[in-house]
Amino acid sequence: MPKAAAAANLMLCLFLLVLTFFEISTADNYVRPPPRQTLHFDFRSKSSSKLPQQVHISLAGNNYMRVSWVTTDKSSPSTVEYGKSPGEYSSIAEGETTSYKYLFYKSGTIHHSVIGPLEPNSIYYYRCGGQGPEFQLKTPPSKFPITFAVAGDMGQTGWTKSTLDHIGQCNYDVHMLPGDLSYANYLQHRWDSFGELVQPLASARPWMVTEGNHEEESIPLLKDGFESYNARWKMPFEESGSSSNLYYSFEVAGVHAIMLGSYADYEEDSDQYSWLKADLLKVDRKRTPWLLALFHVPWYNSNTAHQREGDRMMSAMEPLLYAAGADIVLAGHVHAYERSKRVYQGKSDPCGAVHITIGDGGNQEGLANKYKDPVPEWSVFREASFGHGELKMVNSSHAFWSWHRNDDDEPVRSDQVWITSLVSSGCVDMKNYELKEKLVAP
Ligand SMILES: [Fe+2]
Repeated sequence: MPKAAAAANLMLCLFLLVLTFFEISTADNYVRPPPRQTLHFDFRSKSSSKLPQQVHISLAGNNYMRVSWVTTDKSSPSTVEYGKSPGEYSSIAEGETTSYKYLFYKSGTIHHSVIGPLEPNSIYYYRCGGQGPEFQLKTPPSKFPITFAVAGDMGQTGWTKSTLDHIGQCNYDVHMLPGDLSYANYLQHRWDSFGELVQPLASARPWMVTEGNHEEESIPLLKDGFESYNARWKMPFEESGSSSNLYYSFEVAGVHAIMLGSYADYEEDSDQYSWLKADLLKVDRKRTPWLLALFHVPWYNSNTAHQREGDRMMSAMEPLLYAAGADIVLAGHVHAYERSKRVYQGKSDPCGAVHITIGDGGNQEGLANKYKDPVPEWSVFREASFGHGELKMVNSSHAFWSWHRNDDDEPVRSDQVWITSLVSSGCVDMKNYELKEKLVAP
């Protein structure tokens, strides 16, 4: 090729490159920061210790809290001493232990101890196993307002740390996590390091979690699924009439939250389906005007990642949630953020739920950057960035949702909306006949 032609070609390439860069910059004025490394932890110094590790708490029925922790020493007692003044423990609770083996890995002793009854909106000081450091927790309020922090698909990278730091700065009462916690991916010590990473937050406010695909860790003929998850992250399934830790519900301060299992059977003949019907029938909208649902695989998703993976669960269960008047549905799995209008059966519906995908906690797999075009009619806001959500139920009729993008280590509020409850808009009363038909009919 003559030199002049080669130079022209080079100029053309440079021009196209600049044009592409300009188009990208103007199409999206947010400059996305690069991925961050997986964090590393050294556990050798903690071998054979009675000291509590990986302390986290979760709601366990009205005015009760489950305290969970791990010791490497088997003889450490499962007691939790607690009280309302530092160092003065007026009450003590005795708990239970479990452990599991996974190929060449043997877990430490996992303790679960339920404390209470506790007063609402109060600080308690507690100590696990009769020794070690004192922890501090705050119980949620008994009435509005109440604030939830929400982030799914956490993992344990520099971005996870950033998300956790931002959540720690927010004034919230309960953390809700719609699946994919540790990204241990069969390496069981990564469950331990995840427990340590989240302890500062999870020992202070209840963490209510449901399972994602990364919790399964099944091995054909060798291991059933969810063994590590169920042993470590025991949720109040028995307290809510469920037979499985993979789906349950809880109530707090005027909110009924249903934590469904995207990886448990959900068809009409399944236990989960029957349990959901029974649970919805128990909801008293005078006591809990807000009805939330959380699960891992989103039903409304315009990202190209995990397209239509939630369709089967949606066709089985969306009619039940709609009939019951579910206000907000939170999901993860897609590593990005998206918020919908109120929707039902794929279309805007003033009596449907607002669906929010918030699988952007910061895991090592990175972000899901590609979206379907054109934007579906129901999609209001979508962006592939790490971050977390905050949901403040202000009163029985109004809630304020905001999404906070991790922008160079500063939490920047990037999406926000006031949501009006279906109770206050009349949808729940309007659908009473439908609710009975769907939920009571065999
Ligand atoms: Fe997932």
